[in-house]
Amino acid sequence: MAEIANAIRFILNDEEIALTDVAADTTLLDFLRLEKRLRGSKEGCAEGDCGACTVLVGRLAGDEMIYDSVTACIRFVGSLHGTHVVTVEHLRAKDGTLHPVQQAMVDQHGSQCGFCTPGFVMSLYGLWMRDPHPSQPAIEKALQGNLCRCTGYAPIIRAAKAISSYGAPEADPLRAERIALKGKIKAIHDGRRVEIADQIIVPASLDDFAAVYEANPGATIVAGSTDVGLWVTKFMRRIGPVIFIGHLQELKRIAENDSELRLYAGVSYSEALPSIAANFPQLSELWDRIAGEQIRNMGTIGGNIANGSPIGDTPPPLIALGARLHLRRGEHRREIKLEDYFLAYGKQDRQPGEFVESVTIPYLPAGEHFATYKISKRREEDISALCGAFRVFVSDAGVVGMVRIAFGGMAATPKRAKAVEAALVGKPWTLETVEAAIGTFAEDYQPISDMRASAEYRLLTAQNLLLRFFHETNGHGQRLRRAVA
Ligand SMILES: Cc1cc2nc3c(=O)[nH]c(=O)nc-3n(C[C@H](O)[C@H](O)[C@H](O)COP(=O)(O)OP(=O)(O)OC[C@H]3O[C@@H](n4cnc5c(N)ncnc54)[C@H](O)[C@@H]3O)c2cc1C
Ligand code: FES
Ligand code: FES
Repeated sequence: MAEIANAIRFILNDEEIALTDVAADTTLLDFLRLEKRLRGSKEGCAEGDCGACTVLVGRLAGDEMIYDSVTACIRFVGSLHGTHVVTVEHLRAKDGTLHPVQQAMVDQHGSQCGFCTPGFVMSLYGLWMRDPHPSQPAIEKALQGNLCRCTGYAPIIRAAKAISSYGAPEADPLRAERIALKGKIKAIHDGRRVEIADQIIVPASLDDFAAVYEANPGATIVAGSTDVGLWVTKFMRRIGPVIFIGHLQELKRIAENDSELRLYAGVSYSEALPSIAANFPQLSELWDRIAGEQIRNMGTIGGNIANGSPIGDTPPPLIALGARLHLRRGEHRREIKLEDYFLAYGKQDRQPGEFVESVTIPYLPAGEHFATYKISKRREEDISALCGAFRVFVSDAGVVGMVRIAFGGMAATPKRAKAVEAALVGKPWTLETVEAAIGTFAEDYQPISDMRASAEYRLLTAQNLLLRFFHETNGHGQRLRRAVA
């Protein structure tokens, strides 16, 4: 068993923090505003949507410090062990000189009421550090998770483009500070497990996590907290004891071989994107439409799958691709088809003390067509009303040799459309076949009506998506797709 430490330790701006008495559900935003009296970060929604609470969290990745924009309202303090938290208060120089990001916002009139402004500043700061001369699409992507209700976005985007005329990231005083901080952050990761009052457990390693969860199967696993955070802020649920796993490097592995991509459970959407875009370019657009940047920096693939939501965006395409799930309990591992993991609403094939360790996604064989369509009311920062993934192999003779269709938002779990598949396979891949198969959607799915869409809308849209997929496989994709810069 790993040695035990009894404090959550991190660096907040330039202050070293060690907390021996903190609740499992204390959010970073409450800690900043109520305990540290750092009130620059605002609470707009308390559910990760508006970005008013955005801060940067720096973490060690190999020998590098990486800074991610995150929403402090749904990030728990217990998850910050061994990180550097940077808030908007830390940007202005000691002599009062504004930071280039702040000065650009002032000069470009990027603020009116100012409520959203600290969040925009932090998101832009994160962008500027990794991309000092961002394109308009890069700026828009970085700001997907920041809402402004009075200034309007044009001045903010102008400010984003102007930042580098005020200074270069290499000259940023915080950069030097971060290099100096690296040693302190490394020292915090001293190989010990942290435990606080039987309520917070921060395992020392993946093996330690496996052991501690097997011994405490009633504990709540928290990875990115983008689902669990809302259980606290919106549903007032008690979540302790909690095992925080977001820091575990072994769960952030991405392995590629000749036949498949393996994503470990703690890989965030942002971390997965380069491998997803390289191996499954058809999924890049979906990836960019999952939440906003801060949530993509926090939310993990493992959390999306484990949570078992019928409207999670990764299960439909991964099921269509034939992904396999790797589960682990203590030292025992097993592998199942991802589609078999979802048993019923809120019920997954996971035993007490068992967790998701990784998912493997076979590459698409040459000649197969594959597409995923996310349907939501807003294009960005919105949950799917439905999400459909389609994959087909059509032989040289024009006959459907294999087809896999999976939907989220159409049933109590992510689910394959087996009746539709049966109506297509072995038939010529023609409009007549597709139109005949469309009627069988009602055998596979009896969707519900809710605030996102009516049952009728869902069924009709699913049918139309099959038609769209058919037309796209026949080369009409460009006409049907929105032009994306
Ligand atoms: C503003 C906002 C927008 C969002 N938009 C989208 C969207 O567009 N599409 C979408 O699909 N989702 C969306 N989500 C939901 C969420 O971001 C995803 O489901 C995310 O992938 C969850 O991962 P996490 O690491 O944050 O999970 P957590 O919140 O940490 O955990 C979620 C659940 O999984 C369990 N868990 C986590 N990791 C493991 C593991 N390794 N093994 C076993 N159990 C585990 C936890 O115990 C919990 O039950 C959004 C959320 C927010 C707040
Ligand atoms: S307060 Fe809205 S995202 Fe945090
Ligand atoms: S400046 Fe008022 S909400 Fe953005």
